[in-house]
Amino acid sequence: MAIKLADLGKAVLETEYAVRGPIVAKAQELEKQGRDIIYCNIGNPQALEQKPLTWVRQVLALCEYPELAEKAAALFPLDAIEASRAIIKGSKFGLGAYSESKGVRFIREAVADFIHRRDGIATDPDAVYLTDGASKGVQAALRMLIASPHDGIMVPIPQYPLYSATITLYEGKQVNYYLDEHNDWKLSRQMLEESLAEAKRYEVKVKAIVIINPGNPTGSVLDKENIAMVIDFAKEHNLAILADEVYQENVYRQGDSFVSFAKVLEEKKEKTVSLFSFHSTSKGFLGECGHRGGYFEIRNIPVDVSAQILKLQSVSLCANLPGQVAVYCMVKPPVTGSPSHAAYVAERDGVLNQLKQRARLLQDGLNAIPGIRCNDVAGAMYAFPCVELPAGRTDNEYCMALLEATGICVVPGTGFGQIPGTAHFRTTILPPTAKMEEVIKRIAEFQKTYH
Ligand SMILES: Cc1ncc(COP(=O)(O)O)c(C=O)c1O
Repeated sequence: MAIKLADLGKAVLETEYAVRGPIVAKAQELEKQGRDIIYCNIGNPQALEQKPLTWVRQVLALCEYPELAEKAAALFPLDAIEASRAIIKGSKFGLGAYSESKGVRFIREAVADFIHRRDGIATDPDAVYLTDGASKGVQAALRMLIASPHDGIMVPIPQYPLYSATITLYEGKQVNYYLDEHNDWKLSRQMLEESLAEAKRYEVKVKAIVIINPGNPTGSVLDKENIAMVIDFAKEHNLAILADEVYQENVYRQGDSFVSFAKVLEEKKEKTVSLFSFHSTSKGFLGECGHRGGYFEIRNIPVDVSAQILKLQSVSLCANLPGQVAVYCMVKPPVTGSPSHAAYVAERDGVLNQLKQRARLLQDGLNAIPGIRCNDVAGAMYAFPCVELPAGRTDNEYCMALLEATGICVVPGTGFGQIPGTAHFRTTILPPTAKMEEVIKRIAEFQKTYH
C-alpha cells in the first residue's frame, strides 16, 4: 500500500513555509492561465532579471571544465584562470569528488581571511563550515541546540520563516520577541527580557537567540550598541547567538553600516557566549541563490561540541562543490589592478546602486498610499509595510485579493509574525525599476477599491 498522510509525523505536518505558500500556488495557477504575475514574494534576485557577476561565472565554468583554460583561453581573463587553478589544486580532486565534511580547506582559509579583512579579528579556518546555502547551516545549528521539546529558541517577530519552520520540524519551542515597528524595528533589552520571562513561565528552557541583521523582512540594520546589548543579554542568560548575516552587503541608508556579531564579541573579549554566524552567496550583490553556497563560522564553542557539529555535517558528506566555489568567489574578489577588477567593481556597484534606488522608490511609493505605512528599507531586500484593513479582513485575504486584482504576488505578514491586531505584507525590492513603479501604481489602485 502506498504511503498515507497519516503515516507522516506531526512535526512534518505542522511545518509551514509562507514564502512559498498558498498565495504563491495561486499565482502560479493564474500565470498558467495567461495572467501577468509580478513575483515579489521571494528574495531570488536572478529570477527578477539581476545578472550574475561575470567573475563568479567565469571561475565556476573553469572549475567545472578546466580544459576551457586551453581550449577557449581568449574568453577568460588570466586572474579567473589562476583562481580556478588554485581552487582545483586546493580541492585536490576537482568538483566531481566529495570534499572534507567542513568543505574544501583552501576555501575555508579564504573565508577566514575574508572575516579577518572585514573585521580585523583572528579567524580559524577550522571554525568555518561550508554549507548548501545559509539555510543548511541554520538547520544544523538548530538541530544541535534543540535537545528536547522544552528547549526554546528566541526568534524576532517578524522573522524569516526558515526559523519557525525548522523549530517546528525539530520539535522545539519558538520563543517570540517583538521588534519595535514604531522605533525603526529596533530591538530593546526590555523586550528581550519580557519574552524570556514569559518563556520561563511556561517552563521553556531557552537555549539560543536568533538575530537577523540586516533584517528580513524588516529591512532594519542594527548598530554596534544594539549588538553589544544582545551579547550582554545572551551572556547573562546563558544563551547561544545565531547571527544571520546573509544581507551584510545590503545596506542602503546613509549613516547605517553592517557590524558583525563576531567583531563585537571579539572587541568585548567575550569568551563565554557561543556564536554561530551565517553567510550566503544568495544575497548581497551575487544573488547566486541557485548555486546554494553558504558558510557558518563558530566562536566560543568547546572542542567536544564542535566535534559533534562535524559529525552531523559528515552525515550528508559535504556541501555541494560548485556552491563552495561560489563562496570562494564571494570572499576572494579580483584584486585591484588585476584584469577582472574594473568589470567586477562596475557590476557590483551597478547591482548595489539599483537595489538602493529601488529600496527608496518602494518605501516612498508605499508611504504615499493612504492606509499603508512603511518603515525605511535601510537594508536587506524587502519592505514590510503595515496595512489598515477593513474590519474583519485578514492579511491573507488582502494578499490573495491583491494577487487576483493586480497580479502582484506578496507574502502576508502572518507568515513572518506580527503583533496581534496588526496586518502587514512583505514585498521584495527586486523587480527592475520600471516594474517596481508598476507594482506601486497597481497597489495604490487596488488599495482604493479594497476599502
Ligand atoms: C534571513 C535569511 N537567512 C537565510 C536565508 C537562506 O538563504 P540561502 O539561500 O543561503 O539558504 C534567507 C533567504 O532568503 C534569508 O532571508
